[in-house]
Amino acid sequence: METEQHIQVGGRTAAQISDEVLRRFATTPDVRLRLLMEDLVSRLHSFAIDNSLTVDEWRAGVEFLTAVGKRCSPERQEMILLSDTLGLSMVVDALGGVSASGNATESTVLGPFYKEGSPEREMGASIAESTDAKQPTFVRGKVLDESGNPVGGATLDVWQNAPNGRYALQDPGQPAGNLRGVFRTGVDGRFSFWTVRPTDYQIPDDGPVGVMLAATGRHPWRPAHIHLKVSAPGMRTLTTHFFDGESRYLESDAVFGVKPSLVCSFVRHDPGEPGTPKGCDGWWYSLERDVVLARDSV
Ligand code: BEZ
Ligand code: FE
Repeated sequence: METEQHIQVGGRTAAQISDEVLRRFATTPDVRLRLLMEDLVSRLHSFAIDNSLTVDEWRAGVEFLTAVGKRCSPERQEMILLSDTLGLSMVVDALGGVSASGNATESTVLGPFYKEGSPEREMGASIAESTDAKQPTFVRGKVLDESGNPVGGATLDVWQNAPNGRYALQDPGQPAGNLRGVFRTGVDGRFSFWTVRPTDYQIPDDGPVGVMLAATGRHPWRPAHIHLKVSAPGMRTLTTHFFDGESRYLESDAVFGVKPSLVCSFVRHDPGEPGTPKGCDGWWYSLERDVVLARDSV
């Protein structure tokens, strides 16, 4: 019996076409590019052959990728969202190498809501610019190297969503700098800022990626988190999250970004407890977490 590979297509089998395509890539001058192209093409062909892909299915795939591309704009990166929801971003993250001692803070996805140029803020200031700052939360910790020494002159770029689940970047109803801020550590490596407790939220699912999630029975939720990008001279830049340990989506993050070491406790404090911020007359929360940076291996 004929196998799929041996089915004749215009006088040639699928396997013969595949071999011919691979031969054309064999002269790629850049060795790494050649390797990646040959492997990608060979796996794509195997995918089609092994699954007996029909022309209609192939066309649906092409239309889907076209729709993903068309949905991209300066404000929206649907292609990265596709990579995130397919788990590819986190697979590449996992290949990023571990630090020398293995105790550096782990990284996770950057996500589409990072934008350079967040307001520079005084240490201890609030990143919440809107007046309905619910569930005030004090975040503090130290930036350390892998030997436990404080890292001075570190830059912490932080951003998160508002109580309505949306980031300032996607919500014209918020001030542009709301829940975004850049902080610089002093010699003691300490950092602190006020914010509001982040909420679980849905990734943008009104585009082709949302169609893919719905068609495959997947939900679009991410567990609540605060984003951080931490850099310092001589250290490897870290992109990470502080996840809220009480979120119900820790086990099923739509973009697979949760690592157990990044799950934090938001501790609830009584009104009027020592350290209660001025004007805060209800419950408030604190989150304490150090950030350990690996040395830049040049
Ligand atoms: C986010 O955390 O903001 C995010 C990450 C990946 C995809 C969508 C959103
Ligand atoms: Fe996020």
